[in-house]
Amino acid sequence: MTPLSKETILEALQSVQDPDLNKNIVELGFVKDLAVCDGSIRFTLELTTPACPVKEQLKEQAQQAVLALEGAESVNINMTAQVRTTLPEGNQLGGEVRNVIAITSGKGGVGKTTCAVNIAAALAADGAKVGILDADVYGPNVPVMLGLKGHPEGDGSGRIVPLNAHGIKAMSVGFLVEDGQPVMWRGPMLHKALEKFLREVDWGELDYLLVDMPPGTGDAQISLAQLVPMTGAVVVTLPQEVSLVDVRRAIGMCEKVRVDVLGVVENMAGEIFGEGGGARTASDFSVPFLGSIPMEANMREGGDAGIPSVTKDPNSPSSKAFQMIARQLAAEVSKLPAQSLPTLEV
Ligand SMILES: Nc1ncnc2c1ncn2[C@@H]1O[C@H](COP(=O)(O)OP(=O)(O)O)[C@@H](O)[C@H]1O
Ligand SMILES: [Mg+2]
Repeated sequence: MTPLSKETILEALQSVQDPDLNKNIVELGFVKDLAVCDGSIRFTLELTTPACPVKEQLKEQAQQAVLALEGAESVNINMTAQVRTTLPEGNQLGGEVRNVIAITSGKGGVGKTTCAVNIAAALAADGAKVGILDADVYGPNVPVMLGLKGHPEGDGSGRIVPLNAHGIKAMSVGFLVEDGQPVMWRGPMLHKALEKFLREVDWGELDYLLVDMPPGTGDAQISLAQLVPMTGAVVVTLPQEVSLVDVRRAIGMCEKVRVDVLGVVENMAGEIFGEGGGARTASDFSVPFLGSIPMEANMREGGDAGIPSVTKDPNSPSSKAFQMIARQLAAEVSKLPAQSLPTLEV
């Protein structure tokens, strides 16, 4: 019997298709460090995100494809991931940030911050390096929802060190105001604050930086798009038909500042608000539907306790939904061409 060659193994692995990227794992360059010794085979599968929704499926299919070869006795696959950047070089973000994703909505109270915090926690639980920038000047709630205490400090060389909670790096416009002090954020001031947070914060290495946007379609949206190249935006909506108007406005804003809509998330689905509106809206606008989160009492409790519900109660229906949505989002980002976004002119 001829011993197994690497070529034979790679040929077999070409039968494993990544359903999101529509190519096989060999042509995608996912197969690394292939080694064969007698009948035992080992290699690394390097995916484009640790939050890959089909991670287990790919691993299993690769295993089966190899074990079906004559002479194959055992296979050992090491699963890793390397998130690619969609941002052009010299993007002026502090640190090495690979993707910037705005969490937006047409109006407040739909669960933007809840989504930002829980999607971040879900991505971090899958092994991604995640940060949140709380840019909601009207209601900077990220510190409360993440249970952040204290204020960020300088590192001595003019850079700000973000706070860290539940494995998520975080900065908030709330850190700029004294407790309880209302602030009138005018355009230029907001622009300066966002600029500081994007340029002067040492974000370090981040796969995904989520930006919790203020509701609506105002200065913050324009400033953000001017300040950094964006990977895209997630639009959060309630299930009712009335929120369609708000979604339309939010998507219109994204188009105006040339930011891709990565998908729509429906929140608070259930008896009170119904469900299905989010999916219909996404299909109306030809954007991906990332998933639906049920209305759930423990979510509010999680938010109040400063622990994301995904972390506190990972098996609840809403947490499962967030995990799926986070992976769908990561898959949408993986589909984008690496480093090829147009430069923004607003
Ligand atoms: N799926 C859900 N089930 C129950 N309560 C939720 C859900 N999503 C959000 N909430 C609650 O609704 C309120 C508004 O959510 P929040 O994330 O602050 O909205 P936004 O940031 O859009 O203003 C919060 O009290 C939050 O805990
Ligand atoms: Mg909010």
